[in-house]
Order: sequence, then structure tokens, then C-alpha cells
Amino acid sequence: MKILLLGPPGGGKGTQASFLIETFGIPQISTGDMLRAHVRDKTDLGNKAKQYMDSGSLVPDEVILGMMSERLKEDDCKNGYILDGFPRTMPQAEGLDLLLSKLNQNLDSVIVIKVDDDIIVERMSGRRVHPSSGRVYHVKYNPPKIENKDNETGDDLIIRIDDQEDTVRKRLGIYHIDTSPLINYYNKKGIVHSIDGASDISEVRNSINQIFSGE
Ligand code: AP5
Repeated sequence: MKILLLGPPGGGKGTQASFLIETFGIPQISTGDMLRAHVRDKTDLGNKAKQYMDSGSLVPDEVILGMMSERLKEDDCKNGYILDGFPRTMPQAEGLDLLLSKLNQNLDSVIVIKVDDDIIVERMSGRRVHPSSGRVYHVKYNPPKIENKDNETGDDLIIRIDDQEDTVRKRLGIYHIDTSPLINYYNKKGIVHSIDGASDISEVRNSINQIFSGE
């Protein structure tokens, strides 16, 4: 099962990916989480990516495609994966097609999560994350069991630098220009399922489950 989650920043891709991991037992491949790990580890790639990420711009396509061509070859990808945050430009989508054909693979489903910009801006102000695992919470809609602590490890949660309102609005603008054309690209391949991402977390989860149960 090879699934792509496509949607605006803060649309709930990471949140829903965590449920799909449970359902299908396949890894989530989040380019955002991979890049943040590089930034934390101060690798060359991380040092290159940091300025783009902090300002809400996209990291250059060739950096992302190089990183993903290595990742998709790893052993845990053999039975499938959930792509989260990649591809997000046309050159990345075409690069992914090339990678998949080399690996003799196809994407099975593209799930488009639709949410209006104003809802996103409100959601992002309450997002809290556990940096080392990428687990995501929300102060109101998905609070941790203990305030500001990760449920699994008890570590402190943080607010992402790029979750400030100005940066979120910039990321949304980039999504509409560079990423949303991919919906049409995958529509032509007949593998797109669009869902309403504005309802609550469990309803969105149910909508996605229905796609895979064929209802
Ligand atoms: P990345 O980490 O991929 O960020 P993003 O796509 O902007 O998505 P987010 O992680 O912000 O949101 P999400 O959709 O996962 O939502 P979440 O589940 O957390 O990328 C960060 C940066 O890295 C980019 O800006 C760029 O610089 C770089 N980058 C990454 N990939 C790249 C690429 N391919 N090319 C170039 N550059 C790249 O939910 C958000 C909040 O809402 C949470 O608090 C959650 O609890 C809450 N929530 C979720 N669902 C609901 C719901 N239904 N109702 C209420 N609250 C909800």
C-alpha cells in the first residue's frame, strides 16, 4: 500500500498518518520530520534547509529528491509507505514518478485533505509537537494527557518556529501556488480521493477509513 497524503500545511496530514501507520503497519515518510532531524543534527543538508524552513519557504527540489531517492530504497519501504509532505511541487511529482518506475512501484491512493485557510491559521496557533518523534498535539483539539508533555516519553512539547501566523500564511500561499496543481496531476491518474479535513479528527479518520474499506 503506497499512499500519498496531500493537503495544506496544518491540514492534518501528520495526525492522520499516525492512524494509517496503525491500520496498515507501514511507515510514515514525512519530509518535514526528516528535514527537522537534519537541522537538529546539524548535517550539511540540515544547515542548507534551515533558512528555508524557518521562513516558510520550500527547500529546493534537488535537495528533497536526493533525500527521498535514498529513503524509498530502505528496507522498511518494501511493503508500502505513507508519503506526508512530499511531493509538493510539479518537479518533485515528476521526480517521484521516475523514482517509482526505477523501483517498479506505483502510488495506490492520493488522499487530498481539504481545509480552509482561516481554520488552518487557528489550528496552528494551538499545535504542539514532540520534536524527536514528530508526534503532534493540539492544546484544544488533541491535548496531551499531561499539559505540554509527550504522552509516550513525558518530554516537553515545543511550538514550531514556522507556526507563527505570518509564516503560516506564507506557507499557505506557497501551497496554493506550487502544491495544489498536483491534485489535477494525480486526478489524471485516477487515484485521488478528496475528503473534508475541517471536521473533527475522528470524523476525518472515519472518512479515510471508508476509502480503504471501499464504502
Ligand atoms: P512539513 O513539516 O511537511 O509541514 P506542512 O506540510 O506545512 O504540514 P504540517 O506538518 O505543518 O501540518 P500537517 O498537515 O501534518 O498537520 P498536523 O497533523 O500537524 O514541512 C515544514 C517545512 O519543511 C516546509 O515549510 C518546507 O520548508 C520544508 N519541506 C518539507 N517537505 C518539503 C518538500 N517536499 N519540498 C520542499 N520543502 C519541504 O495538524 C496541525 C494541527 O492541527 C495539530 O495541532 C493537530 O493536532 C491539529 N489537527 C489536525 N487535524 C485536526 C482536525 N481535524 N480538527 C482539529 N484539529 C486538528
